[in-house]
Amino acid sequence: MQDIRVSFQQLFNSSASLVVQSPGRINLIGEHTDYNNGFVLPAAIDKCVQVAIAKRTDGAIHMHAIDLQESLIVPAVAIQPHATSWVNYIIGIVAQVQKYVVTAANVPAVNSNLTTTNCDTGSILHELDNGFDICLQGDIPIGAGLSSSAAVECAVIFALNEMYQLGLTRMQMALMTQQSEHEFAGVKCGIMDMFASLHGKSNQVMLLDCGSLQHSYYPLDLKDYQIVLFDTQIKHALASSEYNTRRLECEQGVGILQQKYPSIKTLRDASKQQVEQCLAPNNNLDKNAISDKVYQRCKYVVDEIERVQLAVKDLLAGDIKAFGQKMFETHEGLSKLYEVSCPELDILVNVVKDNPHVLGARMMGGGFGGCTINIIKKSEVQAIINTVADIYAQQTAHTLKVHQVKIAQGTHIK
Ligand code: GLA
Repeated sequence: MQDIRVSFQQLFNSSASLVVQSPGRINLIGEHTDYNNGFVLPAAIDKCVQVAIAKRTDGAIHMHAIDLQESLIVPAVAIQPHATSWVNYIIGIVAQVQKYVVTAANVPAVNSNLTTTNCDTGSILHELDNGFDICLQGDIPIGAGLSSSAAVECAVIFALNEMYQLGLTRMQMALMTQQSEHEFAGVKCGIMDMFASLHGKSNQVMLLDCGSLQHSYYPLDLKDYQIVLFDTQIKHALASSEYNTRRLECEQGVGILQQKYPSIKTLRDASKQQVEQCLAPNNNLDKNAISDKVYQRCKYVVDEIERVQLAVKDLLAGDIKAFGQKMFETHEGLSKLYEVSCPELDILVNVVKDNPHVLGARMMGGGFGGCTINIIKKSEVQAIINTVADIYAQQTAHTLKVHQVKIAQGTHIK
């Protein structure tokens, strides 16, 4: 990537006051568990988004996406979702920040961070309304399931937090960013992507409990093995609508479980036995009350939440083979029960499944395209890439892309 400060100077004829870098993420295991209050095991990667920013005084937000060579100007007040997606990742965050500052002004006790810094909420709002210049660039492949959009949102909120001295914690930023994605991108995503981007640490994976948001870090020691991502280079259009549908199906399942077990608030609280008892079609007395789909979705999620916890034990015990095996199981569940895979992803997993040098492989992220994550013996990586690329080209008429990523630091000032 070129020096973003130079680009900023050329674009806006002034100096950037701040540059922030925010990474994409991988997820080793724990897919579609985050919005069910389960566990995930993500890590930030060495592919990132950078934003350069400086205040304006005329009430406009001037935005430029360097990689897309697109610019847009919107007023800084009364912000509404825009037709252009990358624009929403910026202005959606501005809307969240404005909402936060207004709430802090009205209910100071609730928003202690802002008030303890003794900042004057009125003057912050005034400054926010004055707008800013911002440009962004990045090397996270878009639509590959590496959370490029969350990286933009995290970079933007981090930059605004710095520039206006809002005193937000990384935790607050993650929650506000998730809210922005819900309201401005229309995807009812969980917290994993933004949390990983903001909280990542070099060489460490994080076990995040998406219910309590407690998290712990573990070094990722894969010994003679490494992570390789195989990119289908496909993004199916139904990804976000199907994502929201899965979330609803899980909620439907919870609703049924609750009738018998009122203490169940999310699928995190449900046991495998309870799912079988209340949701399995054969055991369900009222056949019309529930579809097989809801049962399958809930079964997958409850299995996966348990699988992540077992997988972390494998990792701590140094048993990467057992860990990898669980990745294959996850893929099976995502493909057959949760139905968020696609033929291209299934081909990529099937090709490596019986290869003794591949310990684990599965689709990663929301699904319907994007990447598989593989744990491959270092000495065999090139040979396996060649084989997989050939088979993928033959069976799909698409070209395989390969990403070899390192685990890197979370959002920071450059
Ligand atoms: C997307 C969402 C995340 C998570 C994954 C699936 O990446 O943004 O919140 O739900 O899908 O695990």
